[in-house]
Amino acid sequence: MAKVKTTFFCQNCGSQYAKWQGQCNSCKQWNTIAEEVLQKPEKSDWKSLNSRAKSTSKPLKIIEIDVSEEARLNTLDSEFNRVLGGGIVPGSLTLLGGEPGIGKSTLLLQVSLKLPYKTLYVSGEESQKQIKMRAERINPNNNSCYILTETKTQNIFKQIESLEPEIVIVDSIQTLHSDYIESSSGSISQIKECTTELIKFAKETAIPVILIGHITKDGNIAGPKILEHMVDTVLQFEGDRNHVFRVLRANKNRFGSTNELGIYEMQGSGLREVSNPSEILITKKDEELSGNAIAATLEGMRPLMVEVQALVSTAVYGTPQRSATGFNAKRLNMLLAVLEKRAGFKLGAKDVFLNITGGITVDDPAIDLAVIAAILSSNEDESLPSEFCFAAEIGLSGEIRPVQRVEQRILEAEKLGFSTIFVSKYNKISLKNSGIKVQLISKIEDLIEFLV
Ligand code: TYD
Ligand code: MG
Repeated sequence: MAKVKTTFFCQNCGSQYAKWQGQCNSCKQWNTIAEEVLQKPEKSDWKSLNSRAKSTSKPLKIIEIDVSEEARLNTLDSEFNRVLGGGIVPGSLTLLGGEPGIGKSTLLLQVSLKLPYKTLYVSGEESQKQIKMRAERINPNNNSCYILTETKTQNIFKQIESLEPEIVIVDSIQTLHSDYIESSSGSISQIKECTTELIKFAKETAIPVILIGHITKDGNIAGPKILEHMVDTVLQFEGDRNHVFRVLRANKNRFGSTNELGIYEMQGSGLREVSNPSEILITKKDEELSGNAIAATLEGMRPLMVEVQALVSTAVYGTPQRSATGFNAKRLNMLLAVLEKRAGFKLGAKDVFLNITGGITVDDPAIDLAVIAAILSSNEDESLPSEFCFAAEIGLSGEIRPVQRVEQRILEAEKLGFSTIFVSKYNKISLKNSGIKVQLISKIEDLIEFLV
C-alpha cells in the first residue's frame, strides 16, 4: 500500500513544515501548525515536465498582445462596478471576504440575479431551496442565473462544461474540495489546490470567477494570505452588523484602483446601493447637541461627510478611559495629548469616548479637526453650529495641516448646505465664488477662538 503523504501547514500563514512544532517560524503564532494529508505528484524534473506539457501559450512581443476583447462585464450594480474598476474583467479571479453574516452571499446572489449574462452560482453552504428563498426576497424574475449545490471541484467543472456559463460565483472557497488532495475542506492545502484549479479554469476559458472567502476573528481571509496573492482582486465587505450600512472596498486590484468604495444599505429586500452616502450618515437634528461635529472626509475618490460624536466626562476611576469606535484609538490619544499640551485643556482626568456614527470606520486624517472640535464641544458642553464642518489634519505641535483634494470636500459640503468649512491655511484653494465660507486656520488656538 502506498504510504500516505502528510505535511504540516501553519493554518495562519500557510508556511509548510516537515514536522510539528509549537510556534510558526514565519508568523510567530502559537499552536497553528496542523498536519494535512496530501498526495504529491511523482517527482519529475523540468525536462520531463516539459515533454508532457500541452500548453500552447507562446511568448509574444508586448505590442503584439491583443487587448481589444478585454471588455469588462457590466454588473448593472454601480457600486460593485465602481469598486472593481468598471466591471468584471474576463478571466479574472475575484475574492470577496467578510465576517459571517455581513451579507457576502446576499451581495453576490444579488449581483448574479442582476447580471445580464448566463451565471452559475455554486453554493457549498446552502441548499437550492434556501437560495431560492433568499432570491425571492431580492429579485425573483431572472432567467439567466443557475444555482448548483456542489463542493467537489471536478464535479463543478463538469457542470460548467455542459452549462457553459459566462460567469461563475463560488460560495465559499472554504467548502470546496478537490480529489487530488486528501485533506479536509477548508484546510490550507485544499484551499490552495481548489484556488489553483479555479485560476487555471478562469485563465484558460476567460470566464471570470468570483469566490467568497471567510475571514478569521482577527480579520484576515481564513486560510491564507497565499490566497490573496493568488487571486487578481481582493474585495472586503465590512460594516457593523448592528448597523444597516455595508462598505465594499478593494484591498488589491490588478485591474483598477484600490481607492474606490461602494456603499450599500441592508434592507429587508437585499442590499440597496447608496449613491449619495453623505446625506444618510449625517443625522438631521432639530436641536443642536454638544459633542457633535461633521467632518468632510474622502473615502477613496468619494467625498463623504461623517458625523463625529464625543463625550467627555469626569473619570470615575483613577485611570481615565479612552474609547473610540470607527476611529483609531492611538490617534485619539495623540490628539488628546496635543490638546492638553498646546491648548492647555486638562483632559487627563476625564473619560473620553468617541464614536463615528453609521457604524463606519474612517482612516482619512482629515477627520482630526472634527474630532478635536467634537471633544472641545463636549468638554465645554456647548453645541457647535450645525452648519459648520471640518477638514484638516492635526500635527503634533498643534498645527492645522493641509489635506489632499480639499476642493472636492468643499464642494460636497456646499452641496449639502453647510455654511462654513474649516480647513488649513496651507491648503491651496483655487475655487472662486463658492457659496460656502472657507475658514482658513493654522493652529488649534485659532479653532478655539471660533468655538468659544
Ligand atoms: P448573508 O449574505 O447570509 O451573510 P454572509 O454570507 O456574509 O454570511 O447575510 C445574512 C444577513 O443579511 C442576515 O443576518 C439577514 C440579512 N438579510 C437582510 O437583512 N435582508 C435580506 O434581504 C437578506 C437576503 C439578508
Ligand atoms: Mg454566506
